[in-house]
Amino acid sequence: MYPLGLRLDRRRVLVVGAGNLAHRRVPRLLDAGADVLLVSPHARDSLRAMASEHRLRWEERRFQASDLDGAWLVLAATDDPAVNAEISALAEEARVFCVRADDREAATAWTPAVGQHEELTFAAFAGGDPRRAAALRDRLLELAATGEVSPPRFRGSGTIPGVALVGAGPGDPDLITVAGRAALAQADVVIADRLAPARLLEELRDETELIDAAKIPYGRQREQDEIIALMLERAKNGKFVVRLKGGDGFVFGRGGEELDACAAAGIPVRVIPGVTSAIAGPALASIPVTERGLVHEFTIVSGHVAPGDPTSLTNWDALARLRGTVVVLMGVRHRGAIAAALIAGGRDAGTPAAVVMDASTPRQREVRTTLAELGDVEVTSPAVLVIGEVTRQR
Ligand SMILES: C[S@@+](CC[C@H](N)C(=O)[O-])C[C@H]1O[C@@H](n2cnc3c(N)ncnc32)[C@H](O)[C@@H]1O
Repeated sequence: MYPLGLRLDRRRVLVVGAGNLAHRRVPRLLDAGADVLLVSPHARDSLRAMASEHRLRWEERRFQASDLDGAWLVLAATDDPAVNAEISALAEEARVFCVRADDREAATAWTPAVGQHEELTFAAFAGGDPRRAAALRDRLLELAATGEVSPPRFRGSGTIPGVALVGAGPGDPDLITVAGRAALAQADVVIADRLAPARLLEELRDETELIDAAKIPYGRQREQDEIIALMLERAKNGKFVVRLKGGDGFVFGRGGEELDACAAAGIPVRVIPGVTSAIAGPALASIPVTERGLVHEFTIVSGHVAPGDPTSLTNWDALARLRGTVVVLMGVRHRGAIAAALIAGGRDAGTPAAVVMDASTPRQREVRTTLAELGDVEVTSPAVLVIGEVTRQR
């Protein structure tokens, strides 16, 4: 076997059969720019959709020899071995490489297990064993995701690599995104929040400078100014800086301010979203924030200032009049006042509610209650308060 990368841009690829194999292979052919001709009396919905969007041409009939005219490659992917054999015999005569769904030994071309990570493409063959090939491909993808195979985008190479604003997820280190993990593995400097998962920090390279944002003294605003100053200073010195936040950095995470600061300083910045505790917390307690036929909206609010406080920007009365789910972050201290404001605004005191504490960590704990009793249940931080019908026990 001789491995090869095919450049298929605007080159005809004939796909005969529109079942499982075609469903799996055609999207990648289209991504490569191939001019796909699909021949099959029937097609799966996804392939029909591609035809109706004019991404490929679908001939709604059985294969005929002239379909091979002009093709550079053929996929014989019907469920009839006799038809596949006929296609591959004609392809052989026409000197067109043919991949066969049913008989790899009779095929003149094999497709590898393929993986893509940013600009890297992995193709694995494993002596004809597709499971081993897939396992090998997955291992390579893991290496790429953890940064062991560095995509050039993050390499220093003389220019400023910049800042990545990375959401770390709610606490379980497995709940960071693949992109977030890759950024951490390549970081020269990591500025981590209090809620950033400790195990992710353990995995950093020895030479990565770790700055614990929680240890920076001063009050809240001074602290944020100091973090931004450090972030910009390190980035201007050519370091690749990861600003790591719990959950998603753009949900009560001040990510917007950091984005603005980078933009104002001319520092390249990339936002890598995270899994927010506002949705993951309830989900990990089996609470969907929406439910068909029951709740068509959810609102995420900050409870860090009590309702009625002059600095509060939340219209609790309006929120009380909605029937959807209310998710409160930073609401532990004011939970009684929040519940009272919602009841005063018209929510039923018996509305079910739940509190999910330390979501996704080994310490995760949940309490089910009602709006009227939310202020009385024992709660520890960090916690997500969830109010609404979706919190009824499943
Ligand atoms: C400053 S906010 C940051 C939210 C974060 N950016 C996010 O998207 O999850 C901190 C609040 O998030 C919530 N929180 C974060 N992690 C949590 C977890 N693992 N379990 C429960 N609540 C969590 C708590 O309400 C906490 O007070």
